[in-house]
Amino acid sequence: MIEQEGLLKNYWYAAGTSKEVNGNKPVKRIIFNIPIVLWRANDNESSALLDRCAHRNAPLSEGRIKDCRIVCPYHGWVFEQNGQCSNIPSEGPHKERTAKHKVEKFPTLEQNGLIWVWMGRDILPDKHPFPMPLKKTKGWKNYYMITRFSNNVTNLVENFMDVPHTIYVHKGWFRDRKQMKVPMNVERTEDSVLVSYEQNNDSISAFDWMINPKGLPMQHTDKFYMPNVTRVDYTFGEEEKAFIITSTCTPVSPYESIVYTLISYKFGWFNQFARLFLPWYTRRVINQDVEIMEIQGKNIKHFKETNFKSTQADLLHLYIESLRSFAKLGGKGTTPKPIKKSAEFWI
Ligand code: FES
Ligand SMILES: [Fe+2]
Repeated sequence: MIEQEGLLKNYWYAAGTSKEVNGNKPVKRIIFNIPIVLWRANDNESSALLDRCAHRNAPLSEGRIKDCRIVCPYHGWVFEQNGQCSNIPSEGPHKERTAKHKVEKFPTLEQNGLIWVWMGRDILPDKHPFPMPLKKTKGWKNYYMITRFSNNVTNLVENFMDVPHTIYVHKGWFRDRKQMKVPMNVERTEDSVLVSYEQNNDSISAFDWMINPKGLPMQHTDKFYMPNVTRVDYTFGEEEKAFIITSTCTPVSPYESIVYTLISYKFGWFNQFARLFLPWYTRRVINQDVEIMEIQGKNIKHFKETNFKSTQADLLHLYIESLRSFAKLGGKGTTPKPIKKSAEFWI
């Protein structure tokens, strides 16, 4: 099914990392199929306008930044951060003639290392961006990964929350098949799906020897937050060591998304080696998901709709789908009620 938008637009979406949007060049982004030009007027201010010049619709993202303003590459019209046109070179000294021209502006803000754009075009921001757990306290390290996926946000968040695929898609890289029962508790609130697993003796294989040599019990929780965030936590012992993967998905078009993944970790003395090894390892694992998401997306596109069958392991996915579908339909239909359930599956 092609993703509808409905209330899903009334959220902040990540449009780039703070580092990507620097003062030198405008940056082009597409969110919900809407082209946007992003730039930074100074260290503290980011701006986002519709990427379509008011004059003859050339993309402003191909222009340049001059004195905190954006200059169109075609005839040089100049636009302020609020989208107001402030100079038309062909009008000579007649600045008053620029007044009626403007370009749509989108609210932006910078938080936790990301630039966020508010996509609710009809309403002003009424919530905050998701607080990405960019840990600044001692012992923690963080980095962002940016990945393009050929699939929609619903299928991506399901993939990021999904345990059973790990023994197939990431065989030998993340988790191996153990013929082990995994009981889980799943809770749906009005805007989240929270899963905790009872699998103290599970492990994420490639990490065992380095982050958990003492074999401390592992706690694992998966959380989904409307409309597009997943947070996966692995903690060892009494949170002595921890590994958190937080992903925020930005829809580009019906079958394309950009995902900003924040990797946060606290591995004690192993941090110094993890710094060198983890970016390579996490890229490798994410690329395995990129491949499976691409072929799933292609197939769904071919059949033009989804026809999913589910088992107990998919309970969390059904809850995610119910929250996103309700929002897509603009809040019409049956409101998904808060619910808690236990289920089990085998890996
Ligand atoms: S199209 Fe932008 S100035 Fe003419
Ligand atoms: Fe995966």
